[in-house]
Amino acid sequence: MFDEKFNCKAILDLIPETYFLVDDNLTVLDSNKAASALINTATNNFKNKPINSYLQSNFWNSFLSSFEKANEINEEAKFILPDKKRLEANLKAVKTEVNGKCLFQLLIQDKKKLQDNVKENKMFEQQITSVYKLGSIGTLAAGIAHEIGNPLTSISSVVQMIKRTTKEKFTDEKLDLVKSQINRISNIIHQLVEFTSPSASTPKPTDINKLLESAISIVKMGRETNNINFIHELKPELPSLKVVPDQLLHVFINLIMNAVDSIENKSGKIWLNTFREDGHIEVVIRDTGTGIPKKYMDRIFEPFFSTKTPGKGIGLGLWVSYGIIKNLDGKILVDSQPGLGSIFKILLPV
Ligand SMILES: Nc1ncnc2c1ncn2[C@@H]1O[C@H](COP(=O)(O)OP(=O)(O)O)[C@@H](O)[C@H]1O
Ligand SMILES: [Mg+2]
Repeated sequence: MFDEKFNCKAILDLIPETYFLVDDNLTVLDSNKAASALINTATNNFKNKPINSYLQSNFWNSFLSSFEKANEINEEAKFILPDKKRLEANLKAVKTEVNGKCLFQLLIQDKKKLQDNVKENKMFEQQITSVYKLGSIGTLAAGIAHEIGNPLTSISSVVQMIKRTTKEKFTDEKLDLVKSQINRISNIIHQLVEFTSPSASTPKPTDINKLLESAISIVKMGRETNNINFIHELKPELPSLKVVPDQLLHVFINLIMNAVDSIENKSGKIWLNTFREDGHIEVVIRDTGTGIPKKYMDRIFEPFFSTKTPGKGIGLGLWVSYGIIKNLDGKILVDSQPGLGSIFKILLPV
């Protein structure tokens, strides 16, 4: 049978706000689970004791008089809990009369917790919208690559043909220039859709730690890194993963290169960690570089978004990495503190 009283109690126990029922002496008659958690005692202990012994505050002095004009109040209040911790809260109180007796229902909301919740929701939302955006950019990029790639191939063969027939040195030199620029464009296009076109190489069981070590050596060959202290902590017994090694290598090189670039010419550290957690292998790359300004956070994965001088970066690194990891059903997570450094995490399902 439906028991309304029981049902009410169950609902009160589910809500995150602290609930108290007090009488007009401010003695506690009832409370919910969140109240027990906040005060750190079992629910039964509350009964028949003054509320002020749990939530100390001057607020209670004027509590009853605030109901002279209204049956409901919404106020901010500060309390001191039994363990001396402070609580800043939004308090809602409703006056009800039961059998001629005046009772008050209180809902108390921790302001700090409220702010944390809002922040969490915001981050989540931001991630959703940027992932959504990246998906549609991916379709666009594939379309553009196709539309540009085809004419480029015909231009390239025409250039080739003229080069074979011309005897003029000037024309020949200019055609070389055209050819090198065509190569540049087709390189970019190739990068742009690297992970959307089926790769020539097939996935095979791959040792993630070895791949990461190779990436580090390759970066060290290509960039000046004497100013940087690389700290490795790679868990030895990781299971091998079935991936296209070249693609994942590409991701690691991108992330390490970005870390190196962010340290610039100063001295700094780059930590590289691998370990297994639940159903995935985690690869963490952390640097003590410039960090990423908040306003750029949801743009860094966009194609051609770069804060680097031309020649150092064209902004495809993270975009391509994102695509490769997504194809592996993995995730790239990023956190950064401007001025202190950044941390990139790759989660790969085992
Ligand atoms: N570890 C990092 N530290 C600071 N900024 C970073 C880091 N990684 C990426 N970024 C920022 O994200 C942008 C995009 O990165 P990426 O896609 O690799 O392109 P590129 O390296 O060619 O600029 C960089 O230009 C930089 O502003
Ligand atoms: Mg890069």
